[in-house]
Amino acid sequence: KDNPNALLYDINNQAARLYHIVLTSTEIGEQARLYLEKRGITSEIIKQFNIGLAPDENDFIFENLAGKFDETVQVNSGLFNFSSHKVFDAFQNRIMFPLKNEYGHVVGFSGRKWQEGDTSKAKYINTSATSIFDKSYELYNLDKAKPTISKTREVYLMEGFMDVIAAHKAGIFNVVATMGTALTDKHVKRLRKIAKNYVLIYDGDNAGQNAIYKAIDLIGENKTQIVRVPEGLDPDDYSKKYSSEALANLMENGRVQPTEFLIDYLKPENLSNLQNQLDFIEQMAPVIARVPSITAQDAFIRKLVEILPDFEYNQVEQSVNLKRENV
Ligand code: UTP
Ligand code: MN
Ligand code: MN
Ligand code: MN
Ligand code: MN
Repeated sequence: KDNPNALLYDINNQAARLYHIVLTSTEIGEQARLYLEKRGITSEIIKQFNIGLAPDENDFIFENLAGKFDETVQVNSGLFNFSSHKVFDAFQNRIMFPLKNEYGHVVGFSGRKWQEGDTSKAKYINTSATSIFDKSYELYNLDKAKPTISKTREVYLMEGFMDVIAAHKAGIFNVVATMGTALTDKHVKRLRKIAKNYVLIYDGDNAGQNAIYKAIDLIGENKTQIVRVPEGLDPDDYSKKYSSEALANLMENGRVQPTEFLIDYLKPENLSNLQNQLDFIEQMAPVIARVPSITAQDAFIRKLVEILPDFEYNQVEQSVNLKRENV
């Protein structure tokens, strides 16, 4: 094989197959299957996303695969932790989500803890960086989503695996996840090749809102729309609480423009304070000045004036006008 990474793809792929078999066809997998079933993950979804289970053993993958690959491949695979005396599986007792690159090759894993008694800290453990896996470049589900993104020129960005799966179940396929909240320049650059419009649907918590704020800046206001998930829920929770149809409806019809999001996000706690109001106007004025439609600008100015106790329409408009001239 002339691709130096071919064996790394190979060992990760074989590991994915083993994890999948453990989940779907063994007795120890039964508990985990029940956990997934409770979370709405059907056996069909398990198959489609190639979900697996790392058993509660410290050398299951090592025992099964080490004989087939030399030590360099083992070390570089991301599947093992090498201590001075023994080699341990990097993933133990976790539900395994294979991470595939856009061509569908398994490049790493994320493992979720699932057992009641599991006291380990991290909810998810991810493959550390390898020559085939870079978390700031890969997007979960891009392999499956690519055709639909290319066709619609639109991509939904979500945080997590369960969110992508919920969207999938709701019949929306142009969905990828950043695996946490950090959208990077690398993610955006690669998506630009296939997508024109970006719809952010992050969790309804502070981390999610902060991530939206940063992502708008990274992608650009004119290409971004936001779907706000109610406080305390993420897209997966939303579909559980309401329905798949409700999630699809929210994603398609519940979008707001960045300006509307930013007004809410940047609005100071204490609005009776004059300086707070001034700062807020100063932050919003350039954003509004960049809105392409004058009618929409007018609407946003009115919205601000409604919120601000001490300012009139033409005062806010003036600030916007100043920024307009500076563009
Ligand atoms: P969340 O923290 O929103 O997951 O992380 P969640 O909704 O509580 O977990 P579920 O739905 O019960 O499984 C969103 C995503 O961030 C990444 C994972 O990709 C996860 O899907 N993440 C989260 C990590 O990489 N490590 C973590 O410890 C937590
Ligand atoms: Mn969480
Ligand atoms: Mn989250
Ligand atoms: Mn979440
Ligand atoms: Mn969740």
